[in-house]
Amino acid sequence: MRCSFAAAATAALAFTSQTSAINILLGNDDGFASAQLIEVLRLLREQRPSDNIVVVAPVDNQSGMGGRSVFTDLPTLPHDSEYGIVPAGSPSFGRAPFDDSVFYYNGTPAACAFVGLDYVLPNFANFTTPDLVVAGINFGDNLGPFFYTLSGTAGYTYSSIGRGIPAIAFSGGNGEQRSYTWINQTTESGYADPATIQAQLTVDLVNTLVENSTPGQPLLPQGYGISVNTPYITSLDNDSCVKPPFIQSRITGGATSDIAAWNETSQTFHYEPIVPEGGINTCINGDCSLPGETEVVESGCFSSVSIFTVDYSAPVGDASSDIRDRLTPLVEYQSGTGPSSSAAGNSTSAGNSTVSGTAASSASGTAAGTGSSTAAGPTGYYKKGGMPWFGNGWGKGSHHGPPSRHHWNPRYAN
Ligand SMILES: *[C@@H]1O[C@H](CO)[C@@H](O)[C@H](O)[C@H]1NC(C)=O
Ligand SMILES: *[C@@H]1O[C@H](CO)[C@@H](O)[C@H](O)[C@H]1NC(C)=O
Ligand SMILES: *[C@@H]1O[C@H](CO)[C@@H](O)[C@H](O)[C@H]1NC(C)=O
Ligand SMILES: *[C@@H]1O[C@H](CO)[C@@H](O)[C@H](O)[C@H]1NC(C)=O
Ligand SMILES: *[C@@H]1O[C@H](CO)[C@@H](O)[C@H](O)[C@H]1NC(C)=O
Ligand SMILES: *[C@@H]1O[C@H](CO)[C@@H](O)[C@H](O)[C@H]1NC(C)=O
Ligand SMILES: *[C@@H]1O[C@H](CO)[C@@H](O)[C@H](O)[C@H]1NC(C)=O
Repeated sequence: MRCSFAAAATAALAFTSQTSAINILLGNDDGFASAQLIEVLRLLREQRPSDNIVVVAPVDNQSGMGGRSVFTDLPTLPHDSEYGIVPAGSPSFGRAPFDDSVFYYNGTPAACAFVGLDYVLPNFANFTTPDLVVAGINFGDNLGPFFYTLSGTAGYTYSSIGRGIPAIAFSGGNGEQRSYTWINQTTESGYADPATIQAQLTVDLVNTLVENSTPGQPLLPQGYGISVNTPYITSLDNDSCVKPPFIQSRITGGATSDIAAWNETSQTFHYEPIVPEGGINTCINGDCSLPGETEVVESGCFSSVSIFTVDYSAPVGDASSDIRDRLTPLVEYQSGTGPSSSAAGNSTSAGNSTVSGTAASSASGTAAGTGSSTAAGPTGYYKKGGMPWFGNGWGKGSHHGPPSRHHWNPRYAN
């Protein structure tokens, strides 16, 4: 690793002790009774007593669901919840018997985030829009782009960001799934249980973000999120990794993907990890000098913190211009001076979403100006010179096409 970890560690721990109360929606993909989730709730309550915190999480393990949004068709649970806490036949949605602020739902992580935002908060909380969504801590790390799309923890997070809510994904290197009832009071190292240490790392990050933000202002700009990965905490055995410093990172770089590996004996495929040279390890957007989060966490007792955006479209630069040029004989390239340009052409201060007329080359000699405005456009589409014209508002509203088949899941089709 090339960065100075010691300096970064000191900086990460330095925050002021001024308190600003916020409203938090907490969730995960491992289920509502996960030890690490409930430890986060416990420590947030202890150390941020003025916050309002509501948990909405899957009734069962929903790891690996990514951003799938699957709502159960059944009014009741077809089987007992994880750890047998809620029996089969109970409503598909309900309060956890162990805590009034914890709600379970029989759906994927993204569906749980939506049930939280659209049903639980309006009906059962004293706030409707959270200041922050916190997802995790996941049992197991989610390092790199392959896991960003695959992980339900990431799915909960980017689905919330997609709805306009600042969100952070927390994934921890301790992969052992256990219930909130299993927290070791004593350990070999004398330090707290790994789940408690992981939860404290989460609270430290949330505190640092909140206490260094201007009260009343959004904790993150629209479309932005943070993905945190922490290493395996060894406190059950020794003290070799109990205080991992936070290091700023990017999601790409040193990251793994899968290959399909054939087993001659069993006549089946299974996955094996590889580190592609290009692909998910290509740095296209942002600060390419940052270390990859995979490199950070795999290099020892370090935590990675990657800022990301949910707009991974329409990169600027020669590569995109060249692709556009080659597509232009078939694919219309529209200038940004249409009626929607009052809503378009505006980006957040950190963004670079607008391509100027001169920067973008194309065969038609026009340039796109409607990149990734944060303002919603006024219309779906309209005609300009006989051509349909797609504005920023396309897809806005509840009617965004027929239900698609990927919403079907055999799991719920009893
Ligand atoms: C949860 O699901 C993931 C992905 O299918 C699996 O790897 C893990 O073992 C499951 N955990 C439990 C406790 O069933
Ligand atoms: C909001 O609800 C929580 C938990 O139900 C409660 O502790 C808190 O005092 C309430 N806050 C306000 C401002 O009503
Ligand atoms: C931690 O607690 C579990 C469950 O109570 C127990 O089985 C395990 O032996 C404990 N481990 C240590 C290192 O104390
Ligand atoms: C500390 O414990 C971890 C497992 O939790 C083990 O992998 C590691 O080798 C141990 N380190 C030392 C210095 O004993
Ligand atoms: C291949 O399959 C056999 C039989 O199921 C199994 O025993 C073996 O461990 C597998 N090998 C690998 C590399 O997965
Ligand atoms: C914005 O994009 C232009 C054109 O590609 C580039 O020259 C400029 O450095 C970018 N600015 C930022 C802040 O990324
Ligand atoms: C961009 O949006 C901000 C906030 O909505 C507004 O204050 C600003 O005037 C807009 N700028 C342009 C160029 O439209």
